[in-house]
Amino acid sequence: MSVDTISIKTQSVDNVSLPNKPLRVAVLVSGSGSNLQVLIDAMQAGTLPIEIVGVISNREDAYAVTRANAAAIPVAILSHVASGKRMGIKTFEQHANDQLQAWQPDLIVLAGFMRVLSGSFINSSPAPMINLHPSLLPAYKGLDTHQRAIQAGERHHGCSIHIVTAELDAGAVLTQAVLEVNQKDTADGLQKRVQKLEHQLLPWTVLLLAKGVLSLEQDQLGTQQKTCMPLLPLKLYVDS
Ligand code: GAR
Repeated sequence: MSVDTISIKTQSVDNVSLPNKPLRVAVLVSGSGSNLQVLIDAMQAGTLPIEIVGVISNREDAYAVTRANAAAIPVAILSHVASGKRMGIKTFEQHANDQLQAWQPDLIVLAGFMRVLSGSFINSSPAPMINLHPSLLPAYKGLDTHQRAIQAGERHHGCSIHIVTAELDAGAVLTQAVLEVNQKDTADGLQKRVQKLEHQLLPWTVLLLAKGVLSLEQDQLGTQQKTCMPLLPLKLYVDS
């Protein structure tokens, strides 16, 4: 991590008074849940002032479910293939919305959640939603981001955290972590290197949100630059 990055973090966070209550966070997952695990570890270590109030998985077999269970976090499995029947996105969204309303989160984190959500679900959400995406947005929205970055001969690649809006991977980008692409990088190798960045970027971003350094209020997004903050997205450069 560069010296610049460290100074941004400490300078900004020190100037903000701590909320008394931890930020209530709900996490949506579909896969391994390594990013969920990072949040669980930081919460349990007391380094992140959050309470993970629940996890929603659209896959019964996602390892993220095992991780949440091990941490005694409530889990709702809304499998898209429950009992051999495919659950349509509308039904999924109805159940997910009911569950989120019950948990009353302050923030919803999509961490490897692989279903596309509708505008009406996003707009009726009880809390703002952020998504972790494996590219330097606005480049490479959608899938196969690492392969496409290599094929295009990109010198830099990484991951982004953005506000979820009805348009896929198109909401305001809050933070990014960047690495240099090596000539010998394969898509798999690059995915692993980017995921290591994700494990730093996600807790760092949630910390900034939990401490109120970053705001997700649309009307404040453009004005946080009036404080000591540099222009969004905040970038985390990590030596690779
Ligand atoms: C992460 O690498 C994340 O960037 C990606 O899924 C992975 C989940 O890993 N998300 C997307 O592709 C969203 N479009 P994890 O389950 O180990 O956290």
